[in-house]
Amino acid sequence: MLKATYLGHSCVMATDGQYSIIIDPFLTGNPQATVKAEDIKVDYILVTHGHSDHLGDAVSISKRCNATIIAPNELAVYVSKQGAKAHNMHIGGAYNFPFGRVKLTIAHHGSAAGDGLEYTGNPCGFVITMGGKTMYHPGDTGLFLDMKLIGQLNKIHLAFLPIGDNFTMGVEDAVMAVDFLKPKKVVPIHYRTWPVIDAEPKEFAAKLKGKKTKVVIINPGESVEA
Ligand code: NI
Ligand code: MN
Repeated sequence: MLKATYLGHSCVMATDGQYSIIIDPFLTGNPQATVKAEDIKVDYILVTHGHSDHLGDAVSISKRCNATIIAPNELAVYVSKQGAKAHNMHIGGAYNFPFGRVKLTIAHHGSAAGDGLEYTGNPCGFVITMGGKTMYHPGDTGLFLDMKLIGQLNKIHLAFLPIGDNFTMGVEDAVMAVDFLKPKKVVPIHYRTWPVIDAEPKEFAAKLKGKKTKVVIINPGESVEA
């Protein structure tokens, strides 16, 4: 069993009924958030890159919950220096955690923290196998052809794909990403948080009509099972 709850923007919480994880916990200052960072209880925190709309509340949640932050090496070092517990990884590498397996994938984007200029290495995406299901969260990225390889190497039950454009893939490229990844279900994310990323998820769903992948449009606070 793998249940994922969308918490707005790029933030996803997932549970297998025993362990809970959160990806890109941007809650404080997130206009879409329906929960407060102080109310989050998780065992692990996965962070794709250092931008404030992804790193978000990771350090404070880590300290309060004694939850390990899983991140690319430079970002893991950055959060360690702030007193968080971290597990350093890097692109192409996978590791078996108590809750499941995490593999880091490439992402075409930037990664910096603090005032936006403190270098935190390369951004990443995550392939997460938990509760017998596989979920893909690409972080912030443009479309890339290696998504085909990610789709070949993994039977993806659930994918979260950015559609907001400007900083990441827009609707048309996300449709192509679905074609490459062939997930069973896809949830559009990273849109409407601010006017500059005001995409229409129904347009994304319409373009995928008739395809094998089921498009699941959910509001922040709502869940989907993989
Ligand atoms: Ni970003
Ligand atoms: Mn972002």
